Amino acid sequence: MVAFSSILLALGSTAAVLATPLKLITERSTPQGTGTNNGFFYSFWTDGQGSVTYNNEDAGKYSVSWNNVGNFVVGKGWNPGGAKVVNYNGTWNAANVNSYVSLYGWTKDPLIEYYIVESYGSYNPSSGTTKKGTVTSDGGTYDIYQTTRTNQPSIIGTSTFQQFWSVRQVKRVGGTVTTQNHFDAWAKAGQKLGTHDYMILATEGYHSSGSASIQVAGP
Ligand SMILES: *[C@@H]1O[C@H](CO)[C@@H](O)[C@H](O)[C@H]1NC(C)=O
Repeated sequence: MVAFSSILLALGSTAAVLATPLKLITERSTPQGTGTNNGFFYSFWTDGQGSVTYNNEDAGKYSVSWNNVGNFVVGKGWNPGGAKVVNYNGTWNAANVNSYVSLYGWTKDPLIEYYIVESYGSYNPSSGTTKKGTVTSDGGTYDIYQTTRTNQPSIIGTSTFQQFWSVRQVKRVGGTVTTQNHFDAWAKAGQKLGTHDYMILATEGYHSSGSASIQVAGP
């Protein structure tokens, strides 16, 4: 009897030992890449410099912390993206370093990387560009810009492509983003999107350290 309960005890503690590291591994970071989690598309991209810990959480929620990175972009949303009324909220601990919170996506044919920037930190992404107009949407005014990326990472590999920007004049983290208002304003400014690929409520960091916890919802 003593021997038997020792075996049970040994089995029980083996299970506990196994369960603990597995849980730790899943909590450490979602692997880099794209996929589906709890009904939402997600993307985790990093250039590999420094460390980024990204975790998919319940429904449209994710968390990320980063340390001395080069560049990374993470978030949850939809694939394909397009005309959606996106609601989101959360916290972003990177207001004084180089980081963005944005509704971020890509189109193909033409290849376009676009940002509806809700908040930026120490660097305004429109620095050095020419404003092409403004769009008022969801209680705020956004400045419209276009920039060219030459031989940069993209969803189809290293390419040269255009970036379209709406940058909210009054920063916020949380609210509604009606994407079609931006797409229409960009088209009026001569900035035509292609066929929608993914669209996420993204946290991006560039040569910085910080953390964020964001939850996205939408139809
Ligand atoms: C978003 O708001 C809901 C409702 O108040 C809250 O439960 C949730 O934790 C918030 N999400 C984040 C990421 O802060």
